[in-house]
Amino acid sequence: MDLLKGKIALVTGASRGIGNAIAELFAQNGASVYANARKIGSLDSLLAKCENSSGRIMPLYFDVTDAAAAKQAVMRIKKESGRLDCLVNNAGIMPDALIGMIDQKVAREVFEVNVFAVMELIQLAARVMVRQKSGSIINLASIVGVNGNKGQLVYSASKGAVIAMTKTAAKELAPAGIRVNAIAPGMIDTDLFRSVGAEKVSGLLRNIGLGRLGKPSEIANAALFLASDMASYVTGQILGADGAALV
Ligand SMILES: NC(=O)c1ccc[n+]([C@@H]2O[C@H](COP(=O)([O-])OP(=O)(O)OC[C@H]3O[C@@H](n4cnc5c(N)ncnc54)[C@H](OP(=O)(O)O)[C@@H]3O)[C@@H](O)[C@H]2O)c1
Repeated sequence: MDLLKGKIALVTGASRGIGNAIAELFAQNGASVYANARKIGSLDSLLAKCENSSGRIMPLYFDVTDAAAAKQAVMRIKKESGRLDCLVNNAGIMPDALIGMIDQKVAREVFEVNVFAVMELIQLAARVMVRQKSGSIINLASIVGVNGNKGQLVYSASKGAVIAMTKTAAKELAPAGIRVNAIAPGMIDTDLFRSVGAEKVSGLLRNIGLGRLGKPSEIANAALFLASDMASYVTGQILGADGAALV
């Protein structure tokens, strides 16, 4: 299991949930992983888990909405490692609200994290990847970005934007040898999903063909494929990983 041997990766939002699982699996597969989180110390358990991996974890603490900090982070990666092979835009937030109850300030925050930070990091990473003529960018979208969902006007719009950005960036960056794909998870057992409330979870489970929530590790497996050379001819794709979920 060394599919990413020697590769340099940046994974945002790696303190918990899907990002944490992706960073861990990438390190297990030989990558040097710059793991991003906001709170200093929140990557300590990831560091401990990956101590004996063939790759390694290097914490990079910054808020993805801080464009100057994101630029510094990518410059540090370039300086220390000389290249960036994979960017995973995973950090995301999902405050739900029904139409009529949407707070403009919260809506703007969702777009800052889920859309503008992704746009900025794509640009920063692409500048490094264009020079090396290779790279893989993976964005975390969602099935609701494809199908929509009640109570998620803002979140679904932000993930729809991620899907559109993925397709456009794939077309624009393909001549430079850079692949850009998205993963569209269904309902994955993380803090973000649990924030819908325990009473709603059992109802939602009935809508999943496989009859269970997905695990963060199952999304990490999809990310591993897209990051690796196994996906060398795969770009511009929105890879559903939803256990046959109906939204
Ligand atoms: N879980 C699902 O069912 C599901 C389904 C479809 C798509 N997704 C997408 O998958 C991604 C990961 O979701 P998840 O379920 O793993 O969520 P999660 O458990 O809530 O974790 C979110 C991660 O993003 C980080 N984050 C949030 N805002 C940030 C910021 N401004 N700067 C840096 N990091 C920030 C969080 O850091 P802190 O610890 O500092 O808060 C945390 O590490 C998201 O993009 C989400 O929209 C999830």
